[in-house]
Amino acid sequence: MKLKQLVQSVENEVIELRRHLHRHPEVSGEEFETSKTIQEKLSEAGIPFKTGYAKTGVLGIIKGEKPGGTVALRADIDALPIQEENDLAYKSTIQNTMHACGHDAHTAMLVGAGKVLNQLKEEMAGTILLVFQPAEENAPVGGSQQMMDDGVFDEYTPDLIFGQHVWPDLPVGEVGVLPHEIMGASDRFKITVKGSGGHASMPHQSNDAIIIANNLITQLQTIVSRNTDPIDSAVLTIGKIEGGYRYNVIADEVTLEGTIRTFKPEVKEMVKDRFHSIIEGIGKSFGANMAIDYLDGYPATINTPQWADEVRNAAQKVLGEHSTPVVSPSLGGEDFSRFLQKYPGAFYWLGTSVKETETQYPLHDPRFKLNESALRKGVEVMAQLALDTLKKFEKRSQEE
Ligand code: NI
Repeated sequence: MKLKQLVQSVENEVIELRRHLHRHPEVSGEEFETSKTIQEKLSEAGIPFKTGYAKTGVLGIIKGEKPGGTVALRADIDALPIQEENDLAYKSTIQNTMHACGHDAHTAMLVGAGKVLNQLKEEMAGTILLVFQPAEENAPVGGSQQMMDDGVFDEYTPDLIFGQHVWPDLPVGEVGVLPHEIMGASDRFKITVKGSGGHASMPHQSNDAIIIANNLITQLQTIVSRNTDPIDSAVLTIGKIEGGYRYNVIADEVTLEGTIRTFKPEVKEMVKDRFHSIIEGIGKSFGANMAIDYLDGYPATINTPQWADEVRNAAQKVLGEHSTPVVSPSLGGEDFSRFLQKYPGAFYWLGTSVKETETQYPLHDPRFKLNESALRKGVEVMAQLALDTLKKFEKRSQEE
């Protein structure tokens, strides 16, 4: 009961902060004002913090009265280079920059949760870390690895880490979580096929790059249809192909660009492996030069089953027993994956659909909107989750 009241007391402030950030979005790596605002809010709340992680990242530190475990809560803080098309009182005032992925809400909710948790620290055993992460949208570089490289967790090492993302496909009052992969791995590639050109009537004097590319496209599709277990997921899409000059000239060069999406690391490795050997093999059989530019994107976001369960429990405590529907994973990429490679924890979705009153446009759309009545629920789920998991560590240390 006490938690709910504390959350209610910060609701308006959370909404106001979200609107302020929405009005003043900053793209990846340039979150200077956003970082300042976060620092001001933490100061006002009396929460100690440190800065200097991935340039604009901030780490808030809430220490309980008693020693115990360390639980980290993460929010990403950057916006996208998108021109907002919504007509809102608080719409973006910056040209070509918009919080179209809800990171304004993530930031505001984490500040709100921090304020609430800071008022409960007398009863708390352990430490809660508030991790404000820049540059999530700057794949595949991101901001999480840079924060860790800059020592964000050197002094306080998390036993667990949680990340929350607004989710337009779920209604307000619901939370989506999975005990395994929740977001996919997303890689990019560019292949350059180099043959040799010539007159269209004299193919024997050239090495037609278009014919080679044609073979390549067909064979690459067999990685998904013939090498991947049908129960697993993999997508290989060639989205762009370029080459040739005119109808009577044999093309000397063709470039193909595309993306590979997978969930399981072993499937990704298999696909990547086959991808390289097929291209090499075709190059050899046609006597052509093949250049491959392969860019590993964010790895898959893989939750720890036990802590995904705790997310479900906390959500049900706060939002009721029917608040955690069965969801399917998404093949979108997410920088939080790199935190989960180092620390156990979970990433989950907070229902923020506006569908009941208007059209819901997806994340990254210039018309994306979220339902602000979900924000207080997000604050409460996060706070509940932090308190519950700290309790688990307290029990553990008592039993030892
Ligand atoms: Ni996002």
